[in-house]
Amino acid sequence: MPDLATRYLGLDLESPVVASASPGTATLGSLLQLEAAGAGAVVLPSLFEEQIAREVAVDARAWWSDLEQASASLGASVDLDAYNAGTVEYLQLIRRARSRLDIPVIASVSCSTPDGWLQYAQLTAEAGAHALELNLYALGADPQRPAAAIERAYSRVVTTVAAAAGIPISVKIANEFTSLGHTVQALGDAGAAAVVLFNRRQSLDVDLQALSGRPVVRLSSAAEIGPVLRALWALSARVPVDLAASTGIWSGDDAARAIACGARVVYVASAVLRDGAAAVSKIAAGLAATMTSLGLDGVDALRGRAALPAGEDPAAADRLGYIAAMLRTASSTSTVERPIPSG
Ligand SMILES: Cc1cc2nc3c(=O)[nH]c(=O)nc-3n(C[C@H](O)[C@H](O)[C@H](O)COP(=O)(O)O)c2cc1C
Repeated sequence: MPDLATRYLGLDLESPVVASASPGTATLGSLLQLEAAGAGAVVLPSLFEEQIAREVAVDARAWWSDLEQASASLGASVDLDAYNAGTVEYLQLIRRARSRLDIPVIASVSCSTPDGWLQYAQLTAEAGAHALELNLYALGADPQRPAAAIERAYSRVVTTVAAAAGIPISVKIANEFTSLGHTVQALGDAGAAAVVLFNRRQSLDVDLQALSGRPVVRLSSAAEIGPVLRALWALSARVPVDLAASTGIWSGDDAARAIACGARVVYVASAVLRDGAAAVSKIAAGLAATMTSLGLDGVDALRGRAALPAGEDPAAADRLGYIAAMLRTASSTSTVERPIPSG
């Protein structure tokens, strides 16, 4: 059996498979199941700052009605009332998780004001979280606010929180940056020990009867892993932080691909919501099987093996890769026989 142990955020993890923030990590019962299934660490659902908590709770209820069926396998252990239920309950969940679990417990916060970030970071650290994930989320819809201003604000949050929290900080970002490498470097310079690539934004549906938009959250599919692999492949040898893969990890092979592109850990949310804690043991077993078939005895031997080496020019490699992919596609489609149009 290959060694799955890894280090992430300066913490020793027995497995790189981490249960990502979602209703699937919202109760002590589900956390215990995830640990028993072999999760290397757990990330609690985000605690949202009070002034946005009401809206979020409404959204969460809408999400939940879509997800209730899918997450039935977690049964009564998932209780939406425990999700974003409030600061007191959240801090209590951290304390109880710390006292009952042996694996690292990572808290997550999402705030809207500088004071909020500071206050919630300190509270979660005091409650005993091993590390803190900052769920940074800007819609980017203000025509007067340039990208650089948002990115500077992100870095300021990290600098403030890292100085005050006294525990390792990871930053979870969405896949919408013009210069992702610069953003990740800046977050590292600001004090982040890890960056999670990527959060998955809620999508929008339109109710054609009411003619109104309705935010929706759906489970991911394995096909969504592509942008995550691409970012890991391009950045992992170049940035001074641990990278976590999040979005589209459904199998051991998905996990192996992400680690081969340089991820230290793989985050799993949708698979846990659909299949319960068993998703974690399935992915870990699949990863071990893939490593065995490759003759690798530990994840350290796999990490970064498929990543773009530091000495290579990412832009040139990306361009060449694009041209090669186009040629492959062209040659495979040209072999398909098409009927000759008549007339
Ligand atoms: C219902 C639901 C709730 C989520 N809640 C949170 C959250 O509170 N904080 C957070 O950072 N990410 C949250 N996420 C995002 C997941 O942690 C994860 O990053 C994303 O779903 C992509 O991973 P996946 O493909 O394994 O689902 C949530 C995802 C889902 C589906």
